[in-house]
Amino acid sequence: MTVHIGAKPGDIAETVLLPGDPYRAKWAAEKFLDDVTLVNEVRGMLGFTGTWNGNRVTIHGSGMGMPSLSIYANELIRDYDVQTLIRVGSCGGMQDHVQIRDVILAMTASSVSTPSRGIFKEFQFAPCADWSLLQAAVKAAGQKSTGVHVGGIYSSDVFYDERPDLNEQMERHGILGVEMEAAELYNLAARYGRRALAILTVSDHLKTGEALPSEDRERSFGDMIEIALEAAFP
Ligand code: HPA
Repeated sequence: MTVHIGAKPGDIAETVLLPGDPYRAKWAAEKFLDDVTLVNEVRGMLGFTGTWNGNRVTIHGSGMGMPSLSIYANELIRDYDVQTLIRVGSCGGMQDHVQIRDVILAMTASSVSTPSRGIFKEFQFAPCADWSLLQAAVKAAGQKSTGVHVGGIYSSDVFYDERPDLNEQMERHGILGVEMEAAELYNLAARYGRRALAILTVSDHLKTGEALPSEDRERSFGDMIEIALEAAFP
């Protein structure tokens, strides 16, 4: 048990999928895993362990934003020795060629700040995905009917953004989408020598104002979970 995770040692698999929403963790575990057990419910942050094609996997909520994700990723890595962490979440599209429902595989994650800023100080670390996971996810995503993009994303500290000028610079520099967790996940994976990847569905678009209808969210989320599982266990 840790401060925020009630699981016993051994309850958590070496591979963890991290949706932001704990109810998404429940939905995905029930839909995709066999022999599912609830391993955490502290503060309502649900985590489930089961098997996929015989492989043990945990699906655990991360909460929204880098400070929340940082708590769970730190404890999963340091206390439960998790080796592979895959964020499965949503993002806002930032380029014309990126469309609602498309999947983005985040090769890098830029940010204004992350919880690791305190240790990096003046150093501008470049958080990036694990190559083996990214490569396997590209292959898995290629077999789905959704559009797939591989490239840089932006991890923001705010959902209600007041800096249109900054978004303009992101767009100019080819950033595909904005979300709120990946950069710190990549920082922590680098620090502890673990594998990490963020797989994101475009749920809304900053340029067009479009948003994914709620009935489509489940299907898109399911595609992402399949890509994550196939990438983790190729
Ligand atoms: N901004 C930040 N995070 C997000 C967004 C967004 O537009 N959409 C989904 N996650």
